[in-house]
Amino acid sequence: MQIARTVAEFRALRASQPGPLGLVPTMGYLHEGHQSLIRAARAANATVALSLFVNPTQFGPNEDFTRYPRDEARDLAICEAEGVDLLLMPSVEEMYPAGASTTVSVGPLSTVLEGAARPGHFDGVATVVTKLFTITEPDRAYFGQKDAQQLMVIRRLTEDLRLPVEIVGCPIIREPDGLAMSSRNVYLAPEERTQALALSRGLRAAVAAWDDGVRDASSLRSRVREEIEAQPLARIDYVSLADQGTLSELEGPVMLPALLSLAVRFGATRLIDNVVLEPSS
Ligand code: PAF
Repeated sequence: MQIARTVAEFRALRASQPGPLGLVPTMGYLHEGHQSLIRAARAANATVALSLFVNPTQFGPNEDFTRYPRDEARDLAICEAEGVDLLLMPSVEEMYPAGASTTVSVGPLSTVLEGAARPGHFDGVATVVTKLFTITEPDRAYFGQKDAQQLMVIRRLTEDLRLPVEIVGCPIIREPDGLAMSSRNVYLAPEERTQALALSRGLRAAVAAWDDGVRDASSLRSRVREEIEAQPLARIDYVSLADQGTLSELEGPVMLPALLSLAVRFGATRLIDNVVLEPSS
């Protein structure tokens, strides 16, 4: 594995690697969710690149940028073991040179749900992902379905800017007890960790209702809420059932593929999770 800490270093290394190149963009503190992205990239590309950059512009002023978990040595060992070829680990100054003032803003998709709860978050994501694409010039880029709205925003920006990269969405990876894997799970105190299982339980209850023929949007949202509201430490930010193409909130009978998503706080820790409901299922 070769490591580049600057854009110039990465470009020089990339020039001698065979194509196609698959990119896995990450903020580090890698877990099995990231490993599944690396494996998907490894299976389909001659060269696998991973970027490790905790992007300050996607964190709000009161969010966890400074305390976001970091463990460079462990991340390097995981990348080696998974067969990553090129690792890009730029500094903040390298990604945002002095005077940088360009922002990529994707529009309506980035202002609802996570975007409403975290103003500016998706501008930060869209800007850094666009930079990572122009630096690494991937043929394919891999993102987890756990950040479903992020995936939609990145697909939109790639199409709008006519970027020559295929966006590959990969399934959510869960702990054996159902909790969706996230670098932020490490923040949870033991009791919060136990109560956080209500998130996947709530989604499963809604899927079971859906499979039994329940189609009313508010009944489906209620199934999720009931599970989470029974947890004294949980504070719901939102439970949404939205059109999977536009993220407009749905009311009445659901006929289209729909994204059932949620964000819940346990103390200072904010967790997200989702499932897609397909009308044919
Ligand atoms: O999903 C993440 O880890 C980040 O949002 C991403 C895509 C690497 C951009 O910083």
